[in-house]
Amino acid sequence: MPITTAVTQLLGVTHPILLAPMDLVADGSLVAAVAAAGGFGILGGGYGNEKWLAEQLELLQASKSRFGVGFITWSMAKQPKLLDLALEHRPVAIMLSFGSPAAFVDRIKRAGAIVICQVQSITLAKEAVAAGADILVAQGTEAGGHGASRGVITLVPEIIDVLGGRVPVVAAGGIADGRGLAAALMLGAAGVLMGTRFYASQEAAGAQAAKERIRDVTGDDTLRSIVFDISRHNVWPAPFTGRCLRNAYLERWYGREVELLRHLDDESAKYASAREAGDFETAAVIAGEAVGLIRDLPTAHDIIKRVMDEATALLARGSM
Ligand SMILES: Cc1cc2nc3c(=O)[nH]c(=O)nc-3n(C[C@H](O)[C@H](O)[C@H](O)COP(=O)(O)O)c2cc1C
Repeated sequence: MPITTAVTQLLGVTHPILLAPMDLVADGSLVAAVAAAGGFGILGGGYGNEKWLAEQLELLQASKSRFGVGFITWSMAKQPKLLDLALEHRPVAIMLSFGSPAAFVDRIKRAGAIVICQVQSITLAKEAVAAGADILVAQGTEAGGHGASRGVITLVPEIIDVLGGRVPVVAAGGIADGRGLAAALMLGAAGVLMGTRFYASQEAAGAQAAKERIRDVTGDDTLRSIVFDISRHNVWPAPFTGRCLRNAYLERWYGREVELLRHLDDESAKYASAREAGDFETAAVIAGEAVGLIRDLPTAHDIIKRVMDEATALLARGSM
């Protein structure tokens, strides 16, 4: 049974499930697979590799999917031509996360695309709506990747209350199954955005060994930190930290970041070669607390079908 919400109507999709724009993981194939299954796929524009972005956009345009493109706002602001490149390929929506969207909203709307802003606090939610956001993604601290400190269960309804329903809100962070979707809808969300769950899918562009780690660990095995960002010379503005799987490297340096900075030349070289080699006891696997709910590596289609079947059954029953 389809669940129709303000977000499915705005984006023109069947299911209120959005694929997070995961850097290096949400490529054109995964976005197209999510679209084919009735969800809304958002390409991971990440830190802005122009050649990669152009290739993925061509692929998506050829697939005739309805798709979005996501940017890390503070990073895209350094090369705004990437936004023009994305808009030339007629995406349904542009998603902006981490940084003020104000400078870009007009350009996106003039191109006829919907503006989705991912926010982590009430202050950021108000700022995004004042700038003209059409949809907000309320990202809880449970989320994989960069984020802040608020938990999703209070953040979503508080944003809805504060905004008085002016803009639909999508819940993100820790959602991987139908229980999460049903709960988010009960909180007043008009959909969910999932990253970690889709990372552990067949179509995701991540390494197989990284996907298997996500499948095999528990929700206790992730941590928010700046250790990996320091080691890859990619320090983010406050208040953002990155949630990744715990590994030997993180255990070694967590809480000892100042000392890590003192050894940065050696450590960043070591880190870069571990990434190259796919050694995930040193390199980060970016993933959120939802890892504890993930036990397999299905197709994107099967993930969406399962989440929808489970959520509709729970909502029809009215209880767990
Ligand atoms: C591997 C990975 C990479 C991510 N990269 C980005 C990114 O480049 N831009 C962005 O806006 N969000 C990124 N995120 C965060 C997602 O947008 C989203 O908030 C998060 O995945 C939701 O929580 P979940 O992982 O528990 O589903 C990433 C998340 C993951 C897991």
